[in-house]
Amino acid sequence: MPSVFITGASRGLGLEFARQYAADGWSVVAACRRPSEAPQLERLGVEIVCLDVADFGAVAALARQLSGRAFDLLLNNAGVYGENQELGSIDAEDWQRVLRTNVIAPLKIAEAFLPHVLAGQRKAMAFLTSRMGSIADNDSGGSYIYRSSKAALNAAVRSLAIDLRSRGVSVVLLHPGWVKTDMGGNAAPLDAETSVAGLRRVIDDARPAESGIFRDYTGALLPW
Ligand SMILES: NC(=O)c1ccc[n+]([C@@H]2O[C@H](COP(=O)([O-])OP(=O)(O)OC[C@H]3O[C@@H](n4cnc5c(N)ncnc54)[C@H](OP(=O)(O)O)[C@@H]3O)[C@@H](O)[C@H]2O)c1
Repeated sequence: MPSVFITGASRGLGLEFARQYAADGWSVVAACRRPSEAPQLERLGVEIVCLDVADFGAVAALARQLSGRAFDLLLNNAGVYGENQELGSIDAEDWQRVLRTNVIAPLKIAEAFLPHVLAGQRKAMAFLTSRMGSIADNDSGGSYIYRSSKAALNAAVRSLAIDLRSRGVSVVLLHPGWVKTDMGGNAAPLDAETSVAGLRRVIDDARPAESGIFRDYTGALLPW
């Protein structure tokens, strides 16, 4: 039975990933900050662990607690959008919080859980990024905090992919589309079920030889 470790599984895309992988017979370890406030996740009957991804001590402690376990797929999904990020009202403290959560945390998690991934058969790592992190695709400006966090994540994960290629790890950066979640809002055209079904196909097709690519939920390659 393949196994997956998912961050930010309390709601939104993380919850939907947990639901679909569990329904497909995978062994799912779902990490969330406050399990007692995630009733939908509890109802899935998957293994739930407590993790605030921005607490790096907790990341290391959880990796130790789960040592000896193999994860075929490490799914770095947790992310935040940030507040006050238009010119004239940029919130520097919030920018730091978002960088910690969206950039540093996924890399610290990849570092801490590398042994678990290497012990798995598929050896895959996926990172939820955003088309908003594409510099080439930015023709509308604004969103300084969120855009810069996902651009930085893309840069760091590209390095990670190159560094792990010789160890047989497939790394993929994923844009889920604009999806109806708390972050995406109700005006978003895509539902989480469709987005996650597409993302799972892209993850499934990922191979070490093309590790470090940036794709959307349809499999289309995106510009950096
Ligand atoms: N929805 C979209 O249109 C869209 C588009 C492009 C990219 N994305 C990316 O897709 C990913 C998932 O987004 P979403 O739409 O599902 O967002 P969401 O509905 O706002 O859910 C975000 C998830 O991340 C978790 N999270 C945030 N900070 C955390 C922390 N410090 N520790 C642990 N968990 C934390 C939240 O947990 P709590 O419940 O504890 O807050 C929640 O489970 C994000 O990386 C996002 O940037 C989304």
